[in-house]
Amino acid sequence: MPDFVRICSQSELPAPGTVGEFTVAGRTLCVANVDGAIAVLDNVCPHEEGPLGEGTIEDGRVVCPWHGYAYDPRTGQSAQDPDLTATVFESVTENGELRAKL
Ligand code: FES
Repeated sequence: MPDFVRICSQSELPAPGTVGEFTVAGRTLCVANVDGAIAVLDNVCPHEEGPLGEGTIEDGRVVCPWHGYAYDPRTGQSAQDPDLTATVFESVTENGELRAKL
């Protein structure tokens, strides 16, 4: 998969129920581990640009640390405002590595 960029090794993934920040190719990403399902989002919250990768996971959603907006890790849609959508990148975990199509 040549257009998928390596994000991290599987051993570096955030623990289940948490998120982490990774910088790849000059871009900061939020990697979310929602009960073992990995999602890769742009780190920038579409509300007021808070750092999603410093947030939390609640009820299966990625929650921004600044004002608590929650995003579906598959679609990026906000639970609070349907007009706000976080960018979600297609990702795959294979051969011990997480890769995403940025
Ligand atoms: S900046 Fe993320 S909820 Fe406001």
